[in-house]
Amino acid sequence: MTSRVVVVSGAGGFIGGHLVDRLRRMPGVKVRAADIKPSDDWYQVFPDVENHAGPLDGDVRDFGVCRRLCRGAADVYQLSADMGGMGFIENNKALCMLSVLTNTHMLLAAQEAGAGRFFFSSSACVYNADKQKDPNLTALAEADAYPALPEDGYGWEKLFSERMCRHFREDFGIQTRVARFHNVYGPHGTWCGGREKAPAAVCRKVIAAKASGDHSIEIWGDGTQTRSFMYIDDCVEGILKIMDSGILEPINLGSSEMVTINQLVDIAESIAGVKLERRYKLDAPRGVAGRNSDNTKIKGYLGWEPSISLRDGIRKTYEWIDGQFHRGGHQSDARGMTSSTFSHGSKPIPGDGFMAESRHMDTWKQAIPAGYGPPSA
Ligand code: GDD
Repeated sequence: MTSRVVVVSGAGGFIGGHLVDRLRRMPGVKVRAADIKPSDDWYQVFPDVENHAGPLDGDVRDFGVCRRLCRGAADVYQLSADMGGMGFIENNKALCMLSVLTNTHMLLAAQEAGAGRFFFSSSACVYNADKQKDPNLTALAEADAYPALPEDGYGWEKLFSERMCRHFREDFGIQTRVARFHNVYGPHGTWCGGREKAPAAVCRKVIAAKASGDHSIEIWGDGTQTRSFMYIDDCVEGILKIMDSGILEPINLGSSEMVTINQLVDIAESIAGVKLERRYKLDAPRGVAGRNSDNTKIKGYLGWEPSISLRDGIRKTYEWIDGQFHRGGHQSDARGMTSSTFSHGSKPIPGDGFMAESRHMDTWKQAIPAGYGPPSA
């Protein structure tokens, strides 16, 4: 029997690694995994799949690499992106927007190669910021992405690439699937260094506070922000179900269990068996005030929605990070690890609408950079 070639770009990353692990167990599937990172830096590497690692072989910003990867592919899962939690995306908008290269080139190469299906990992960051100002909001339904006012930088790129998928499907016939991920967490993902999201950051801080003996942690914002967090197993299950479905429009893939960041900390503390003093850092990147996933549509299409409880998922994530922390010899830096760092990478372009003060402002105020507003009368 000839195998179906299935390509996963971004395979060295958190979600990509878990997806490859699932696909490689499927009968008749030959997985081709690619990532710009050298294989030593992949979260998970599986020797029984075809791996393309590093800048020469796995950089899918490069159209030539994409063409080689997509040759003969039946399915393409495009998960590569320069991304991270709020500390990264608010401070690296140019880098986030450059993911347009990976999305464009992978889509083009998949279409050129005659791939049957193309999966694009979009994000809840496409949603209109005006609809996320209230922590007790009603959940975001798919139509709430328009009129467009997404997260500055990262969200605009995702929204653009969503539409590019749609037009490639309509104009060229490639079957595209678009899922809007809501904050995915779990083992084998980023837990320190500046790109980590709240679930991993909170687990690490609690672990570090315990190890340091100084029972206090820093929390970004005032802790009343709300989110829903999706455990990685639900995410992979959802990706496969959406790919196998006939769903053509972008669809939410997220948990509908909404919590405040304070409640997330409560859960991590109870798993750790500690109670910590909370230092609120009000000038840290906060993102939107409230976000949750409206799962009406996915339930209607699939009769399914992510269901792993936050407590169960955080327990597994906590245990994995605890292992990384102690095996990696981070005890000596435990006190420092009760805070989070920001990650800076992109440089402002003077005179092109860059507002230094916009970096940590609420995202909905960032929609129109200075100099791009309506002309003054
Ligand atoms: N990252 C992080 N680190 N966030 C913290 C921390 C910390 O140490 N402490 C508190 N928070 C707060 C943030 O200020 C924010 O209000 C909330 O926790 C959630 O932060 P993140 O998990 O970093 O990001 P997000 O939910 O706003 O957005 C993420 O999910 C989107 C999809 O739903 C990002 O990863 C986006 O890239 C992604 O599209």
